[in-house]
Amino acid sequence: MPDLYPLIRPVLRRLPAEAAHALTVRALEAGLGSWMVDRAAREPDPPILAQRLWGLDFSNPVGLAAGFDKDAQVFEPMGQFGFGFVEIGTVTPRPQPGNPKPRLFRLEEDQAIVNRMGFNSAGLSAAIDRLSRRRHDGIIGVNLGKNRDSGDAVADYAEGIRRTAKVADYLVVNISSPNTPGLRELQRRESLRALLDPLLRARDESKRGVPLLVKIAPDLAGEEREDIAAIALEAGIDGLIIANTTVDRPAEIVSACARETGGLSGRPLFAVSTALLADIHRLTRGRLPLIGVGGIASAADAYQKIRAGASLVQLYTALVFAGPRLVISIKMGLADLLRAEGFTSIAEAVGTGVVAAHSSGATRAIGTDAPF
Ligand SMILES: Cc1cc2nc3c(=O)[nH]c(=O)nc-3n(C[C@H](O)[C@H](O)[C@H](O)COP(=O)(O)O)c2cc1C
Repeated sequence: MPDLYPLIRPVLRRLPAEAAHALTVRALEAGLGSWMVDRAAREPDPPILAQRLWGLDFSNPVGLAAGFDKDAQVFEPMGQFGFGFVEIGTVTPRPQPGNPKPRLFRLEEDQAIVNRMGFNSAGLSAAIDRLSRRRHDGIIGVNLGKNRDSGDAVADYAEGIRRTAKVADYLVVNISSPNTPGLRELQRRESLRALLDPLLRARDESKRGVPLLVKIAPDLAGEEREDIAAIALEAGIDGLIIANTTVDRPAEIVSACARETGGLSGRPLFAVSTALLADIHRLTRGRLPLIGVGGIASAADAYQKIRAGASLVQLYTALVFAGPRLVISIKMGLADLLRAEGFTSIAEAVGTGVVAAHSSGATRAIGTDAPF
């Protein structure tokens, strides 16, 4: 079947960004996604892409990042585009509306998005209801947040863990959205220590062994990176997702919407999020599985994340610009790149591009012209 996205995209572009997203979700719910599925998406993944992590068998390392399917409405139709895993959320304990609209902006010239959604969420009950009816046998992560008006972040995350552990294959504690006041303060050393122990206990009491990951921001200074790496290893979480959107505005951005308040994703996030990934891989000495996310738009980008230390990758923004067939092209291209470099499995390639520059203590990824 020909790729229909080039025909659909001009229609979606004429709508405000959030209306286009809502229409897409409705179309997927109605089953229209199957018209867009390439035959290649139904083929088994190349064995070179397979990996076992946390006792889960990932047939390929390319996942859908959080934020596309906040309320677990379309994880099954999204899965059929060929993702190796799908992360729903961020879900907050109670329903909340998020920030006033407009709160989502496309930066066409920069292949980027700015959003200040602010955890619009139908709440845990709605998401759990949909997840517990799933027929899909793919891997589903649940990304958890706190309510904006909650004074007790630990209690909110612990409730999320207790209630979703049974319907999730892995859980994510999201402490890195820039759109909930005070949230990113939880990444600081003392707050993070105080947060993780009770959350790991809540996990153990609900479903021992369900992997618990933490998603961090790209805007972290050197000392904060060291603290997070040390605490992650010490507390015994299962992995880190690197990274959420940035509040920074890299100099190369040209779109007027870049001035909007919120988190920036897409192409301009690639270099900074990959540099952070490489740094955390070095600081955790490769002992913690990492999910690399931020600006991936091609197989070469995904490969660079893997060489910088990611065992798995995720994307969101590039899908808006390129459409769902991007998933297949990334997977196939990645398999070709691995073979061409002489790897026999994806796990062998993880972290092979990281060199520590001992003189400065900084980390860069080799085989790239990105300014790491
Ligand atoms: C519109 C939008 C909403 C998002 N919402 C969430 C969210 O609810 N929770 C979360 O952890 N990340 C959220 N993200 C961040 C993405 O999961 C991802 O970390 C980030 O966009 C970088 O990846 P990308 O450049 O491939 O988009 C959102 C991103 C976008 C563009």
